[in-house]
Amino acid sequence: VPGALGFDPYANDPDRWGFSLAQLGELLLPCLDAAGARVVAELGAYAGDLTRVLTAWAQAAGARVLAVDPAPQPQLEQLAAGSSVLELVRRTSLDALAEIELPDVVIIDGDHNYHTVAGELAAIAHRGQDARLPLLLFHDVCWPHARRDDYFDASLLPVDARHPVAGDAGGLHPDEPGLRVGALPYPRSAARAGGPRNGVLTAVEDFVSGYEGDLRLAVVPAFFGFGALWETSAPWTGAMEDLLGSFDRHPVLERLEGNRVFQLAERHVQTAALWAAREREAELEAVLRRLLRSSAFGFAERLSRARVRAGVAAEHDAVSKAEIRRVLGN
Ligand SMILES: C[S@@+](CC[C@H](N)C(=O)[O-])C[C@H]1O[C@@H](n2cnc3c(N)ncnc32)[C@H](O)[C@@H]1O
Repeated sequence: VPGALGFDPYANDPDRWGFSLAQLGELLLPCLDAAGARVVAELGAYAGDLTRVLTAWAQAAGARVLAVDPAPQPQLEQLAAGSSVLELVRRTSLDALAEIELPDVVIIDGDHNYHTVAGELAAIAHRGQDARLPLLLFHDVCWPHARRDDYFDASLLPVDARHPVAGDAGGLHPDEPGLRVGALPYPRSAARAGGPRNGVLTAVEDFVSGYEGDLRLAVVPAFFGFGALWETSAPWTGAMEDLLGSFDRHPVLERLEGNRVFQLAERHVQTAALWAAREREAELEAVLRRLLRSSAFGFAERLSRARVRAGVAAEHDAVSKAEIRRVLGN
């Protein structure tokens, strides 16, 4: 259902995980206005859910949007083809950051691992040289990728920059730092959360602690986590503080998001258990139907009745095709 943003943030999210940063549009767009943004780059744009929001904003604000993605979905390609304010850059973030003009705002939402995010931040800082950092916005700075890498294509990363991945050994659950059978399927995520050089928020925090200059990091714990990082010397630092300060790691929001991802993971565990039960039920039904067709079972049924009549077996121990038909519902 289109909300205040004028579009449906679940358009490409039929299971309603809430995985697009577009879910945070009402918080994100005022940040662009506060920073007086003229050029905004979105690193990782997928199907263009957020890009659509950014493009509508850019049209009204007289700004431009660069959507950087090495593997854009067709919806994003169509969006770019029909927009004069949107440019689609089919590159990885690191390749693109080496050549595009340095934007006023960079939205980091591509390959959610320590190595890539640390590299993106270093590239942005390097490009800026002595100038102030752009306003940096992040997705996935809460569970599951705050402290757990995910690899779009692990083979593109140096071997020592990757953690062992989950594969099909189990899924992700907020109560479990390792893997849990039936939990959320993230086969390309690290098999274990936590520790050094693991996760998006870890990369952001390490960048902050190594940066010469005062930075402010705000984390809004909603829809997998929305982060904002800026230099406190920026003329718009007060406006950003007004927008995000009261949301920053607010305990009620943290609890709400914690509950949301818990319910999401539990639903998956229970759905997986339900599918396993259904498979077993289908196997049992096939066996019972074979018994119904079996002449040997017909003989067993007659023998069973004779034993009851002879008083050798109790009535409730007797087996019959009628009982099997009743259980099968026909
Ligand atoms: C989570 S999706 C982006 C969602 C989008 N920002 C939104 O909010 O609707 C991640 C995207 O990052 C892209 N991606 C993966 N590796 C990347 C990289 N190194 N640089 C840029 N984008 C990358 C993937 O192709 C994918 O489309």
